Order: sequence, then C-alpha cells, then structure tokens
Amino acid sequence: MEILRTVAELRGWSRLKRMDGGKTIGLVPTMGALHEGHASLIRAAAASCGAVAVSIFVNPTQFGPNEDFSRYPRTFAADCALAEAAGADVVFAPSVDELYPSGAAAFVEVEGLSDRLDGKSRPGHFRGVATVVCKLFIAAEPDRAFFGQKDAAQVAVLRRMVLDLRLATEIVVCPIVRESDGLALSSRNIYLSPEEREWALTLSRAIRQAESLFAAGERLAAKITQAARITFAEMPQIRVDYIALVDWATLEPVEVAARGSLFAVAAWVGATRLIDNTILGLESSANDRWLDSL
Ligand code: PAJ
Repeated sequence: MEILRTVAELRGWSRLKRMDGGKTIGLVPTMGALHEGHASLIRAAAASCGAVAVSIFVNPTQFGPNEDFSRYPRTFAADCALAEAAGADVVFAPSVDELYPSGAAAFVEVEGLSDRLDGKSRPGHFRGVATVVCKLFIAAEPDRAFFGQKDAAQVAVLRRMVLDLRLATEIVVCPIVRESDGLALSSRNIYLSPEEREWALTLSRAIRQAESLFAAGERLAAKITQAARITFAEMPQIRVDYIALVDWATLEPVEVAARGSLFAVAAWVGATRLIDNTILGLESSANDRWLDSL
C-alpha cells in the first residue's frame, strides 16, 4: 500500500485509476487512531469502489483553542496496517502546510447547520470539517466518500455542502460500530480511565432507551428527551452537553418524533467529550437507504 503526501500525488493517483481501467474512486476521510469503526468504512468503500484512498490528517481548523489537537492520538504505523488490511489502496497523509498553505484564507462555511448540536458547543468546528473535506474532495475527486453515522451532525453539514456546491461526490453513511457492551467506538475512548469507561455507557443506555420508547409508540420529543435526562441524572459523574431530537437533514428540533428523526446526545465524561445517536424507527442496516432518499 502506497503512502501519498501531496495533493498532486493524490490527484495523480485518482486520475490514473479512473482512466486506467475506469475504476470508481472511494475516499474515507479520517483523523487516524483508526479502530473497527473506521475499518467498517474502508471495507464498505472497498466493496463498492475499484480503488480506495484513506486520508489520515488531524485537521487543526476543526479543533477549538482549548481542545485536544496537540494530544489527539497519533498512531500512524498501526493505522496504515489497519487501512491496508481493510482494503485501502493508498493512504493520503499530508502535512498541515500541504492542506493549509501559509496564509490560507479560503474556508467553507455551511451556515445555520454548523451552529447546531456539536457546532453549538464547538464554535468553528464544522467550518473546519467542511473546509478540510472539501479540500480532500477536490484533491481526490472521489465518486463516493464514506462517513459514519456516529458523527450524524457532521453528515448533515457535509450533505448540505455537497448539495450546495454541486460536488460530484456521493456521500455514503455507514452504521455506528459499537463495543459488545454498547459503547460507540471512538478514537477518544482511549482517554477514558476504567471508571470513566463504565460511566460512558450512560450514552448508549440513553440511546437504547429512546429507541425502546419510540418502538413502544412514544412520539413526543419532550417525553423521549426527558427520559434521557433522567437516565443521565442517575450518573452525576457525567455532564450532559446536549440531548436532542432533531430532523436529520436540518438539525432543527422536532416536537413530534417520526421515523428517521435523529436522537443524539453529547456528554462530558471527565475531560472527554463523547457523542452517540440513533435514527429512530430504523434498523441500522436501513440507514443507507433512508439517507439515500433525503
Ligand atoms: P474521525 O473522527 O477520525 O472519523 C472518521 C470517520 O469514521 C467519520 O466519518 C466517523 O463518523 C467514522 N467513525 C468514527 N467512529 C465510528 C464508529 N464507531 N462507527 C462507525 N463510524 C465511525 O470525523 C472525522 O474523523 C473528521 O471530522 C473528518 C471527517 C476526517 C474531517 O477531518
């Protein structure tokens, strides 16, 4: 598996693959510290594309001044091994200067959506995400790019960006991969102490509870979110950031939940901010079909 460092190399690789044998190009954007969740995206890309690039880039513009940019886990050798085993043809690992030339002043702003859910707690976060993903799309010219439902608000922002900029890349969304006890896999889980790891299960518990309430016929968003508030209140060690029931496309709150509504939570477990979510009324395997219809 080749490691590419410059935009010119990635663009050259992509164009060659496309022209030489007419391969479709899949891109899996990541910040490294790869785990089984990332592997599932790479496998999905390999299953539906002729050539797959995985980008590994800890993107400085999506971190706030007091966030974990400098201590974000960096495990490049292990990441390359995982990417290759999952079916990647190349890893794109640029320097910060390569993606943000000195004096960089062009950014992609998805208005409105970027100020909701995680964007509300992390001002500027989605501007950084949209900017770097747009740069990656321009560099790799992928037919399809693969993202996790784990970051559901990110998906909403990026779908809007693709639509508005009329980009030629299709966004494919893959289900959340969880540990056997329910905890959603995250590169940030390694920050958790064994005790915090236990407390963190409150997030997936709140998610399952919302799913059960919806399955039992509850449709009032206030009731579903209130149940989650009570669940979190039973674990005072955790500080809730948000509990939200929203329309997945607009991230606007809904009063009445419907099939396809997004129920999402974010919480601080010690110094670590974790997120989790579910699309109500849908088996995770059906998410792609739902999203494709949006
Ligand atoms: P990162 O956190 O590394 O995640 C890369 C991709 O893996 C995202 O699409 C994310 O939703 C997906 N992912 C993470 N955990 C997952 C899980 N448990 N199950 C399924 N998929 C999971 O998201 C980012 O990086 C960045 O914001 C990025 C898009 C790369 C832009 O910098």
